[in-house]
Amino acid sequence: MTPPGSAPGSAPGNPEGEFTLNVTGLTYSYPDGTSALRGISLDIAEGQCVGLVGPNGAGKSTLLWHLNGLLPEEPSRDASCVQVGGLLVIKANLPEIRRRVGLLFQDPNDQLFCPTVAEDVAFGPRQLGLSEDEIARRVTQSLAEVELTGFEHRATHRLSSGEKRRVCLAGVLACDPHILVLDEPTHSLDPQGRRELHRLLRQIKVTRLIATHDLELVVELCPRVIVMDHGVIVADGPTLDILGDEALMLKHRLEKPHILHHRHPHGK
Ligand SMILES: Nc1ncnc2c1ncn2[C@@H]1O[C@H](COP(=O)(O)OP(=O)(O)O)[C@@H](O)[C@H]1O
Ligand SMILES: [Mg+2]
Repeated sequence: MTPPGSAPGSAPGNPEGEFTLNVTGLTYSYPDGTSALRGISLDIAEGQCVGLVGPNGAGKSTLLWHLNGLLPEEPSRDASCVQVGGLLVIKANLPEIRRRVGLLFQDPNDQLFCPTVAEDVAFGPRQLGLSEDEIARRVTQSLAEVELTGFEHRATHRLSSGEKRRVCLAGVLACDPHILVLDEPTHSLDPQGRRELHRLLRQIKVTRLIATHDLELVVELCPRVIVMDHGVIVADGPTLDILGDEALMLKHRLEKPHILHHRHPHGK
């Protein structure tokens, strides 16, 4: 039986809200045969902020793209292997999945495509079929959240990398997602842009999954971290224990963050 009030396609025994995100045994190979994900399983509960780390080519982006159905399902795949709030990530559910999952791409140039900031931020809410008043309200509010009030009429292609990234984040926030999935949000930012983004991401309270090489960001924001390598999860647990494990870090082409060198693993 499907729990009352759940969306079509909800799996039995997994009522909405129990877990925001469930992945069970997800595998994926690209059409050229590259095996990118080899049996990924994870659960992320409502409100968690989770870091996803691993060397280049580990499969982080491929995993994130599955969470809002950007990659086609493999024909052999069990349809129940990716769920958001109990809703299966399958073609029939994609409009609702994309309402729930806000994905920030690694390269803002892949995400920005309207001439002005306000038009770009309005794009997502417009796709949701909201009224013009509500769209305008959300644009104003989400630009304020990323501290870009006054940028409404600026040309997107002339912004700095940090500003572009924040416009993309505003566009995602304007859709009011349940889960924010961020692919290397501080990639290519200068130190100040990086600090500003850390601060903004700390203020956002929805469930967050953040793929990143910025281990300081993970230490600051994410109590839990998942380490991937070669398409599998090699560790999943408390950030200070995992990132503080120098042997584990080196084995997976990572390094123990400097800020942990002077810190006891349990914060004492
Ligand atoms: N479009 C693609 N076609 C074929 N292989 C790809 C494609 N995109 C990524 N890959 C491969 O999939 C694996 C995982 O890549 P990716 O998910 O981008 O890793 P990460 O984000 O951790 O750097 C790598 O071996 C990469 O070369
Ligand atoms: Mg990537």
